[in-house]
Amino acid sequence: MPIIAANFKTNHTRASTAKYISLVNNYLKTNSTSEVYIFPTATSLDEYETVLNLSIGVQNAYPTKKGSFTGEIGTEQLDEFFIKTILIGHSERRHILGETQEAIAQKFQYFKELGYKIIYCIGEPLEVKEQGLQSTLEYLWEQLVGIDTTYDKLILAYEPVWAIGTGVTATVEDISNIHNAIKKEINKPLLYGGSVNFGNIEKICAIPNVDGALIGTASWVAEDFIKIIETTKEL
Ligand code: PGA
Repeated sequence: MPIIAANFKTNHTRASTAKYISLVNNYLKTNSTSEVYIFPTATSLDEYETVLNLSIGVQNAYPTKKGSFTGEIGTEQLDEFFIKTILIGHSERRHILGETQEAIAQKFQYFKELGYKIIYCIGEPLEVKEQGLQSTLEYLWEQLVGIDTTYDKLILAYEPVWAIGTGVTATVEDISNIHNAIKKEINKPLLYGGSVNFGNIEKICAIPNVDGALIGTASWVAEDFIKIIETTKEL
């Protein structure tokens, strides 16, 4: 069964998130045993009814329980909604919000110690990809510095930066090369992300060593996301 995750980024309101989660939850009640994750905005966290195979996670949080960290949320705020899943290392946080590998590793360590399920993202920018597979792999290993890749609640996501939100998906060969190399070193579920949609999900999930997908844009309409889960449930 593949792992299918929806990353809302800065999309959806509290009201539309509630509708979305309810639709996906109702679908999962009777239709699928896929492992599904939804990452709404922090303002849309709530006590949602969810079946066992649906988890709500956060796109980010600060490695603290509470304190003076203006604009951030800590685990006191997450505990209110029983959140135990977090996305760490997403390329938008690395490249737009300027998170360093050191800060990311500290965050990982903090949430690991609290037993969170962590979806940890790595991925190379276009200029690195253009230097070839060896350079790409070296870049990806750098993004794993300070990360305990043996952590039992770790899911990895390979998301090439040039494929995120661009409509350009990596080729089967690109995905295969990277996923095989990562799996040789790290025995954890490994998702692919980057312009995954209803039209390409089946092909991508059929690639050996792809355990599922982390989906942004194509996940934002509940019916589309449900169609994606439906397509992958037999895989
Ligand atoms: P995308 O985003 O599906 O819009 O390319 C994926 C991601 O950022 O996780």
